[in-house]
Amino acid sequence: MENEKLTIHEFDLSIICDFFANTKRQGPGSPEETLKALSFIEGLTPKSKIADIGCGTGGQTMVLGQNTPCQIIGIDAWSGFINEFNLDARHNNLQDRVKGIVGDMEDLPFREGEFDLIWCEGAIYNIGFERGLKEWRKFLKQGGYIAVTENTWFSDERPAEIQEFWDKAYPQIDIIPNKVAQMNKAGYLPVATYMLPETIWTDYYTWQAPRLESFLQKHKGNKTAEEFVAMERNEARLYYKYKAYYGYMFKCSKPGVPRNRNFAFYKQLIFWLLNFRKWALRGKPGLPPKKCAWS
Ligand SMILES: C[S@@+](CC[C@H](N)C(=O)[O-])C[C@H]1O[C@@H](n2cnc3c(N)ncnc32)[C@H](O)[C@@H]1O
Repeated sequence: MENEKLTIHEFDLSIICDFFANTKRQGPGSPEETLKALSFIEGLTPKSKIADIGCGTGGQTMVLGQNTPCQIIGIDAWSGFINEFNLDARHNNLQDRVKGIVGDMEDLPFREGEFDLIWCEGAIYNIGFERGLKEWRKFLKQGGYIAVTENTWFSDERPAEIQEFWDKAYPQIDIIPNKVAQMNKAGYLPVATYMLPETIWTDYYTWQAPRLESFLQKHKGNKTAEEFVAMERNEARLYYKYKAYYGYMFKCSKPGVPRNRNFAFYKQLIFWLLNFRKWALRGKPGLPPKKCAWS
């Protein structure tokens, strides 16, 4: 079927958003997995700030709100999701600490060094894993963390059918060591990298099946809706057939020592070692002067 070859990026966004509205999650994930990833993050206090990028209606954001004392901003491109997010924050009595705003992950309205934690479940693929990690790093404080889920190959080799599907849907899908190397290259130290259980996908597809059917009835004759349903069903079919070959990984990491700071540190050390004897002989060991006032 022609529509089986389409990817989610090629559909009218409003149709997709209509399908996902009034739901807690817009992709595979669960409160248990959000909490597990949160257990790797240390040092959060009431003064800490969290950004949840591509938050959708905020299912995972509310879990973060209920299990941390932090200030949390959820950001998503779709205003319908953000309206639901803010209603849910109020419903959970989190509205003073948890707020949703409309915005673009490619042009985030944040300050440098603003956040202690950046969270992103099932959404970094929209900007691309490497680009997202690289561009968002500046928004983290020194010692801050990033936690993202990312679709990843579990094996070096896989059947052509699933390779072709993901080559088109998300060409950046890669094997685990390459994803870890990409994190390192973007300047992060991995804190935890682990596979999410199959159930986050099977629960998601089980939830989807009857909803797709009623969605199809609601949009009878709408070609975009029909194509969307066919695409979702095809993705589910492929998952059940090839789930041994790919799935979500949670990756929690924090910025490593910036390279230029490392270089500056060693430069300073060499300067000290070269000059130590001279200062010692003058009986003035200690900090080197900003300008050479010794001679
Ligand atoms: C698969 S959903 C995941 C939602 C939620 N994090 C979850 O796990 O349930 C991907 C989300 O990314 C959002 N999104 C896509 N492109 C975006 C962009 N450029 N900026 C902000 N959000 C975007 C979509 O509106 C959608 O809510």
